[in-house]
Amino acid sequence: MARRRVFSGIQPTGKLHLGNYIGAISLWVATQADHEAIFCIADLHALTIPEAARAAHLRAKVRETAAVLVACGIDPARAILFVQSHVPAHTQLAWLLSCVTPVGWLERMIQFKTRSAGLESVGTGLLAYPVLQAADILLYRADLVPVGEDQQQHIELTRDVARRFHTLFGQVFTLPEPMLQPSGARIMGLDDPSTKMSKSRGETRPRHAIGLVDPPDAIRDAVMHAVTDSGREVRPERPSPGVTNLLRIYELLSGRRSEAVQLEFMGKGYAVLKRAVADLVVTTLEPIRRRYLDIAAEPGRLDAVLDEGAERARPLADATLDRVNQLMGLEEGTQD
Ligand code: AMP
Ligand code: TRP
Repeated sequence: MARRRVFSGIQPTGKLHLGNYIGAISLWVATQADHEAIFCIADLHALTIPEAARAAHLRAKVRETAAVLVACGIDPARAILFVQSHVPAHTQLAWLLSCVTPVGWLERMIQFKTRSAGLESVGTGLLAYPVLQAADILLYRADLVPVGEDQQQHIELTRDVARRFHTLFGQVFTLPEPMLQPSGARIMGLDDPSTKMSKSRGETRPRHAIGLVDPPDAIRDAVMHAVTDSGREVRPERPSPGVTNLLRIYELLSGRRSEAVQLEFMGKGYAVLKRAVADLVVTTLEPIRRRYLDIAAEPGRLDAVLDEGAERARPLADATLDRVNQLMGLEEGTQD
């Protein structure tokens, strides 16, 4: 049987953190062995975030993101790793799909509502963001899309857009399924466990996120200062968001069952839990950081990896785009 195809993307914005690793990147790495894996650095999506869109800054962030992904274990010999804007078919298909996507579908997206809340003026790109994401996925006829749970709604929308296209013009796309961490892995901010760990907050608040390439002392500092609650020791029968978050991080990185982890820390002081979490995070991330420093020291090689990724992605994307152009009457097609 043909190997199933996996596609996912990440925006080159802010500081990549432990939530990205647990929720998405670790799944990407795991799929490479027995899937055809394609991963993209979504620089066009990043243009919807005004502070990310400064030209020099964006180029540097694209490189940094690529280096972190390779350091985390994305293997360019096995997976295709490329930059979205290097494959023009993404923008082209996004326009074609926008012509079959009702505005109401986009206005209902939770990410759009959150990001547009309170803004006086909202860019068209912010509203159309999930159409570009649908184009990313559908171009490669991906079967599975490994993402964190906050992206699930965008994958559902991708399926809806594909179905509508099929009804109006004919079959061409594969309907993708989201692929989530089995237990749902939403890592919360260490300084505020009521909000999810976020790349943008991680850039401005030193004790918010654990950066994937942060030095060990910064990681220890953030974990030891993590907000817990007014108690002193772990009481699983009285779960609070801060303590639960630390236990979850421990559980997901150690690969141990949640009951075993709860039992281990039950009745122990918060300092004991924090020290154990800090040790485990540092041990997990140290090899990633070391590889990152090596890779970042050779930007020429990294650019070559991205160039080759785009070369491999382009024909796959163009084949789908050609078919769409034919179905929509823009190009002469072979009759089937
Ligand atoms: P973002 O940082 O929003 O560009 O997201 C990149 C990927 O990481 C997406 O698949 C997200 O769903 C996932 N992700 C982002 N933040 C978290 C978090 N705090 N916990 C788990 N997964 C996350
Ligand atoms: N929107 C995704 C995020 O914020 C990033 C992304 C862009 C993506 N294109 C994609 C994810 C295609 C999955 C598939 O995390």
